Amino acid sequence: MSLPTRVTLCDVGPRDGLQNEKQLVSAAHKLELIDRLQAAGVRRLEATSFVSPKWVPQMGDAADVMSGLQKRHGVAVAVLVPNEKGMDAALPFAPDEIVVFTAASEAFTQKNINCSIAESIERFGPVITKAKAAGIKVRAALSCCLGCPYEGEISAAQVGAVAARLAAIGVDHLSVSDTIGVGTPRKVQAALEAALRHFPMHELSGHYHDTYGQALANVYASLELGVSTFDASVGGLGGCPYAKGATGNVATEELVYLMQGLGIDTGIDLDALVNTAAFISGVLGRPPASRAARALLAKRA
Ligand code: HMG
Ligand code: MG
Repeated sequence: MSLPTRVTLCDVGPRDGLQNEKQLVSAAHKLELIDRLQAAGVRRLEATSFVSPKWVPQMGDAADVMSGLQKRHGVAVAVLVPNEKGMDAALPFAPDEIVVFTAASEAFTQKNINCSIAESIERFGPVITKAKAAGIKVRAALSCCLGCPYEGEISAAQVGAVAARLAAIGVDHLSVSDTIGVGTPRKVQAALEAALRHFPMHELSGHYHDTYGQALANVYASLELGVSTFDASVGGLGGCPYAKGATGNVATEELVYLMQGLGIDTGIDLDALVNTAAFISGVLGRPPASRAARALLAKRA
């Protein structure tokens, strides 16, 4: 079996990682985090979300983060946009990519963005039109592909059905997301295979939260299928405000460590990444959640 020789990691720490933190992190600290990630070799990142600050107060400084962001050469910056209002707020900052988001679960969509799946897709129409006119790539994050905190089991057929609708409205790239980290390798492969009927391999990514400790196994299972783009969060930060108990994304440093062991190139410097995990964990006043970061920091001490 041959695995991809190169993998692209999108660090979602500044967005998915921080959005669930009760303690407000300053825009200056967010900008330092983004700068350190770029210096470590991260070439794709999610900087912030243009969502309602009443819903997600931590992302209320999206405009400050985007206006202060110094993008390094070759870096693509993505922002989350739930509707046209968010798109209009994001456009002046010319993000490289916008991320619209819905779910394979009806109940989760209601809790997260206050509408049905069908309504969410309708709202994305004008957002995508504006993105295409501005030459901005459109990614969709599809939540709860492996299970829902409200509905339980989600079938691969349901993932495929929503993926088809997203492809039909012009979404370029799909992130198959395990919001609550309940997926296991064969189920992840089934969800990816359902999505692959509507998106090409290079426009599909895995976004796995590590709540049940399955994220690395799920990444490996995705590599086996040929998927070579993954979201990850430095320090393993994160969680969704509308998925109680769900923990962070797989830690970027754990993915880089795995890829190094497999001889797969990520372009990321593991030591610099671990320093970044230590930096943002220090801002939050706790040690990094990721085992790789803790092990590498302990080894240095
Ligand atoms: P709503 O209340 O139904 O919206 O919320 P509305 O259109 O009725 O507007 C209500 C108020 O929000 C109005 O303000 C609007 O102006 C304002 P008011 O008149 O009350 O002062 N508003 C906005 N403000 C700023 N930016 C906007 C915006 N839109 C409306 N874009 C809405 C609908 C979608 C806005 C709301 O539900 C929301 O913001 N939800 C955000 C949810 C969120 O950010 N969740 C976390 C990200 S998704 C995630 O983490 C999953 C992912 O990681 C993948 C995975 O792991 O599964 C991506
Ligand atoms: Mg997420």
